[in-house]
Amino acid sequence: MARRKKIYEGKAKTLYEGPEPGTIVQYFKDDATAFNAEKKDVIDGKGVLNNILSEYFMVGLGAVGVPTHFIKRLNMREQLVRSCEIIPLEVIVRNYAAGTMSKRLGIEEGTALPRPIVEYCYKDDSLGDPLVTEEHIAAFGWASQQDMDDIIALALRVNDFMSGVMYSVGIRLVDFKIEIGRTYDGDFQRLVVADEISPDSCRLWDIETGRKLDKDVFRRDLGSLTDAYTEVANRLGVMPKQSVQPTKPTLIN
Ligand code: C5P
Repeated sequence: MARRKKIYEGKAKTLYEGPEPGTIVQYFKDDATAFNAEKKDVIDGKGVLNNILSEYFMVGLGAVGVPTHFIKRLNMREQLVRSCEIIPLEVIVRNYAAGTMSKRLGIEEGTALPRPIVEYCYKDDSLGDPLVTEEHIAAFGWASQQDMDDIIALALRVNDFMSGVMYSVGIRLVDFKIEIGRTYDGDFQRLVVADEISPDSCRLWDIETGRKLDKDVFRRDLGSLTDAYTEVANRLGVMPKQSVQPTKPTLIN
C-alpha cells in the first residue's frame, strides 16, 4: 500500500496530502496541550469528537454562506479540506471576559463585554502567540487592509452563528479562536475559515450552571475532557449512533 505524504504535524492535528491537487486530509489526534505545550496528555476519543464537532460547525457555516475550507468528513478521525495559505494570525472573538483578557485587564471572568471584541495573535509557538494590533499586521504585511475588513466580517459572522447554535442547546459562547486561509480561484483570492472549530478552540459554559464544557477542563484540571466534549456533541445531536442496540430485559413468568 502506498504511504501518503505527511505535510505538517501540529499539536492536535496532522495534515496529509489529499487525493486530488488542492486538497488536504486533516487528521484529528487525541493529544491535548495547553500553555504552549507545557502541559500535555493524550485524551482518548478527543480527536473523534473534535472531527465530528468541527464538521458540524463548518457545514453549518457553509449553509449560512460563510466560506470555509471544509469539503467532507472521510471517517471518524479525518476530514478532507481545501488547501489554503494560512494567514499567520489567531483571530479571537470574545463575548464575555475570560482567560488572557481577564488576566491582562483585570476583568472578572464571565463579565459580559459591551460588544464582541476581536483580537489578533501572531501565530508563532516559539513566541507564545503574542497579541498584536492591526498596525503590526499592516506594517509586517501579514494581511492587507482589505483582508482585515474581510477577516473582521468573517469573525463576526462566525460569532453570530456559533452563539446562536450554542444558545439553542443551553451553552454560552464565551469566546473562540479561528484561523483564516487564502484560497485562489484564477486571479481571485478568497478568504475562508480554516483549521478547526471545536471545544479545543472555544470557551463554552453551560448557561444554567456555568459548568465549563471546553479545553479549560484540561487546562485547569476540572475533570474529564471527554465527558465535557461528549456533552456538547450530545446536546447538538451529533454523537455517532450506537450500531449495537442493547436488548431489553425479558420478563420470565
Ligand atoms: O487564552 P485566551 O483567553 O486568549 O483564549 C481565547 C480563546 O481562544 C479561547 O477560546 C481559547 O480556547 C482559544 N485559543 C485557541 N488557541 C490558542 C489560543 C487561544 O484556540 N493558541
